[in-house]
Amino acid sequence: MIGIIGGTGIYKIVELGDEIVSQVVETPYGPSPEMSIFQLHGKDVIFMPRHNLGHAKPPHMVNYLSNIWSLKKMGVDRVIATNAVGSLDESIKPGDFVIPHDFLDFTRMRKGTFYDDKTVHIDVTEPYCRELRNILISSGNVVGKGVYVCTEGPRFETAAEIQMFRQLGGTVVGMTGLPEVVLARELEMCYSSICTVSNFAASISPTKLTMDEVFEVVENKRKDLVKLLSDSIKRIPSENHCDCRSTLDGAEVGDLLEPEDL
Ligand code: HPA
Repeated sequence: MIGIIGGTGIYKIVELGDEIVSQVVETPYGPSPEMSIFQLHGKDVIFMPRHNLGHAKPPHMVNYLSNIWSLKKMGVDRVIATNAVGSLDESIKPGDFVIPHDFLDFTRMRKGTFYDDKTVHIDVTEPYCRELRNILISSGNVVGKGVYVCTEGPRFETAAEIQMFRQLGGTVVGMTGLPEVVLARELEMCYSSICTVSNFAASISPTKLTMDEVFEVVENKRKDLVKLLSDSIKRIPSENHCDCRSTLDGAEVGDLLEPEDL
């Protein structure tokens, strides 16, 4: 099963296929958003609006644990997320798509793990699935690499923050990429993201940032985004060839001391 997580402005994808069923899943973290299940290129696909319908949950209130848990519960093993972002790089413009390969996490108040009652340290040297990224990169006209900076929001950034993120090597900035990618990895799912650049980031943009501008660009790019999703899903092989299914190997801290050592 392939999961699509729709970001800002993407709450349903009727273009991709006739919904077979819509479903809300209960999880230990609360109910999921209403998801729709459909068939595309002979594959089972499930669509989840990250912010619930009508952007009811702002980025800092999204229930990332419930969202990822419910996709896993539905049998999803590959996730393609969509995220609206601001660009930190003058050569990457509003309307461009960026496929990030790494992130900088500047969130502060989000619960970022499923593992509170055992010690699990997963490797995130390469947090986004290489195989899914390669499929996205070869399916459309995209910027094939970038460092996603995640801020807590819901405010946009200051000029000084944006200068700092640039110096640190950030490419784009958004509010929803984390902890989503890490949670998917903790459940050994492949995860990739298509970032739609909706604006230049604060201080790079000549004008004040508004959500109207973000929604407008995402809406204008919607057709291209849906085509990229569809062309990519067509090319996802049934067997995966990445190491996302073994994230937990060697990550769990077991009993370091045997009882007889004590
Ligand atoms: N900053 C943070 N999040 C965003 C932006 C931005 O400039 N644009 C769209 N989401």
